[in-house]
Amino acid sequence: MPGVSTNQKLIDWVAEWESIFQPDAVEWCDGSAEEYDRYCEMLVEGGTFERLEDAKRPHSYLALSDPADVARVEDRTFIASERQIDAGPTNHWRDPAELKAEMLEFYRGSMRGRTMYVVPFSMGPLGSPIAHIGVQLTDSPYVAVSMRIMTRMGQGALDVLGADGEFVPCVHSVGYPLVDADGTARADVPWPCDGDNKYISHFPETREIWSYGSGYGGNALLGKKCFALRIASTMARDEGWMAEHMLILGVTPPDGETVYVAAAFPSACGKTNMAMLIPSLPGWKVETVGDDIAWMKFGEHGRLYAINPEAGFFGVAPGTSDTTNRNAMETLWGNCIFTNVARTDDGDVWWEDMTDEPPAHLVDWRGQDWTPASDSPAAHPNARFTAPASQCPSISPVWQDPAGVPISAILFGGRRATNVPLVTESTSWQHGTFLGSIMSSEKTAAAAGVVGEVRFDPFAMLPFMGYNVGDYIGHWLEIGAATDEAKLPKLFWVNWFRKSDTGSFMWPGFGENSRVLKWVLERVAGTADATETPIGNVPTPDSLDVSGLDLDAGTLQALLEVDATAWKDEVELINAHFDSIGERLPEAMRTELADLERRLNG
Ligand code: GTP
Ligand code: SPV
Ligand code: MN
Repeated sequence: MPGVSTNQKLIDWVAEWESIFQPDAVEWCDGSAEEYDRYCEMLVEGGTFERLEDAKRPHSYLALSDPADVARVEDRTFIASERQIDAGPTNHWRDPAELKAEMLEFYRGSMRGRTMYVVPFSMGPLGSPIAHIGVQLTDSPYVAVSMRIMTRMGQGALDVLGADGEFVPCVHSVGYPLVDADGTARADVPWPCDGDNKYISHFPETREIWSYGSGYGGNALLGKKCFALRIASTMARDEGWMAEHMLILGVTPPDGETVYVAAAFPSACGKTNMAMLIPSLPGWKVETVGDDIAWMKFGEHGRLYAINPEAGFFGVAPGTSDTTNRNAMETLWGNCIFTNVARTDDGDVWWEDMTDEPPAHLVDWRGQDWTPASDSPAAHPNARFTAPASQCPSISPVWQDPAGVPISAILFGGRRATNVPLVTESTSWQHGTFLGSIMSSEKTAAAAGVVGEVRFDPFAMLPFMGYNVGDYIGHWLEIGAATDEAKLPKLFWVNWFRKSDTGSFMWPGFGENSRVLKWVLERVAGTADATETPIGNVPTPDSLDVSGLDLDAGTLQALLEVDATAWKDEVELINAHFDSIGERLPEAMRTELADLERRLNG
């Protein structure tokens, strides 16, 4: 049965866009299993999906995208606010009216010969006071089925919306009409898109999302980065809550209470790994609430409560294995969509480092024969799995609690080979906000530019802020001022990526990160020791539990070291970073930087 709504605003909006897109048909999605299977079958018939072998990967599909459509496109991502300063120096700004006029040229008739799907969804558990409703119009059934895994999609969302509820309108077209303006038809392709002609546009003041030309990931599954981060960060600023690029986990010490921790790491820096961490410390337990996005609102007694607005994981496949992330591997047993991974000869999937020995023959993500002797990777480096969160063995029993979970600590982490210690505790909310604002990663050889060059990524939100970065930092300070400091999460800086002189990682990472979680929990409880340094408090060598770990005293010291000379150079970089943020940078950040400089000199 098609989805049914009594919401006149929604019905009118759908009709308006139907006249612009000119699809052959309109289908309201109900989110049922029957509908999902029907769309998947259609995708198989159209060549977008290949059904994997049921004995290997039940009820699962493989999609290979157009090589021109493999990742989010940041240079085609726009924040269209009335005034440029409100988008700020880190976003691509466009005038809203101009951008809409430009995009309408492409939108007009872009669904000719196709079906327009009306995809209602809830970001967050249905009816949760922290959740919000969106509706996406799309001509991509791949997007519709992906949204069913990634969100609470279908009739349930329409029921929550009711006759007069509010929704964030999201429009999406892959930009590959099957019939042109003069009626000439063309055949469909397995992965329709519009080449490099892509627009991922946000209108924060009217809370609208317009996406064109791409069918991949965050460009096309509009509930994720577009809504849950860019538009939601703007809603959160206006309404006094937070929308963040953070995993959420529950950690339970032996015989202790569960404590909830959120952590902001940039894309492909280990959120999924940490969210599903298997502690190496005996008796400790980690449970997964979310792996990418956290929405946090003030709940009872002035504490911040977080929900995972998503219902699935859209995770990086390469590098995922039984050794790096066993919980993810088990999550992927079936009911999944794999995009741009390789296919084995027996109808299963494979990607780099999934097994120690690569199979002797594969079909790679381009659909070509592949052997271990091939020059290029079998899976695209940004190949992803789309998997129901409910299938994760470590999923928290409260991951769908509409009230959310109370957050006791927030970690910020980049990829730094130098200078940044394994873990640093901030000395106040304002100081922690400063540490979040100077999060950074070093460029690796894989990226264009100078190797070792430091790139700042404040709060891991650089590509995801829906407004001016200076105002965004200001909002963190406002959140801090909204309740007693004692009720706020404690803020920490972490870095799993510090390297030795010989260029290898000094910290084993992964399950061993439970040792850092232990210290964090003990600092929250006030039981562990710390050493004061100019940048914050680091563990004393005795307070970090490294029992059973093959880590010599020199390495531990190097992991925790704060080198004043190197940090004076770092201060120069931070100065330039703050200059680039410009006029909206809160004065408090300059004060924090001056204090840091004073401590380094003192
Ligand atoms: P998005 O989904 O893009 O937002 O990314 P994510 O933060 O979920 O990234 P993901 O978990 O896919 O990051 C995986 C990368 O982080 C791989 O290169 C891993 O090897 C690396 N990684 C994860 N945890 C650790 C760790 O503890 N130590 C080290 N050295 N690398 C790690
Ligand atoms: C990221 O890039 O941070 C992701 C993947 O989580 S995507 O949804 O494609 O943006
Ligand atoms: Mn992400």
